[in-house]
Amino acid sequence: MDPASPALPTYSAITLNINGEKHTLTADHRTTLLDALRERLDLTGTKKGCDQGQCGACTVLVDGRRSVACLQLAVAAEGREITTIEGVAEGDTLHPVQQAFLDLDGFQCGYCTPGQICSAIAVIEEHAAGWPSAVTDDVRPEAGPPQLTADEIRERMSGNLCRCGAYVSIVRAVARAAETAAGTEEPRAVRAGESAPAAQDKDKEAAA
Ligand code: FES
Ligand code: FES
Repeated sequence: MDPASPALPTYSAITLNINGEKHTLTADHRTTLLDALRERLDLTGTKKGCDQGQCGACTVLVDGRRSVACLQLAVAAEGREITTIEGVAEGDTLHPVQQAFLDLDGFQCGYCTPGQICSAIAVIEEHAAGWPSAVTDDVRPEAGPPQLTADEIRERMSGNLCRCGAYVSIVRAVARAAETAAGTEEPRAVRAGESAPAAQDKDKEAAA
């Protein structure tokens, strides 16, 4: 860089719209959205795992789409609708995905859970909108939306790692929440999965 040229500013005042509230802060242009949330705004529900975009612990929703906050600059999030785990419940009423994770033990230590829940919220909406995944057999539009099987859930949630290995319960919880969102009670999606233990338990109960 020409040493005679004036230094470019490295800080800017930005306004982030998070969980329906505007937050104004002065941030270094290199500040990630994750660090802005956790270190500047005390929204520590969003977790830092790898800080390299590989674990999904920092997943938030940006304009309703999943985003790993460690790979997004805070300045680039200005003007977007950001939803963190602190903003998914309605007052004292948990989001159906949160409730399903609680009811079906979709966690152990809980560190990955905020990211899992934010991701699952988007997964359910993506599936309801008919989006295929890498394991969808028939992606022709006339085939209609794929059934949300356990394999579909595993694939769609594969960006969110869980060091505790709570995956079996996480799949069950996402399936339950999807059924709740669809307005049906039977966890058909899990029952359709080959190795889903909820379905196996139910089958055992039915056979007893
Ligand atoms: S902390 Fe962002 S993906 Fe791991
Ligand atoms: S519940 Fe511990 S990392 Fe997932």
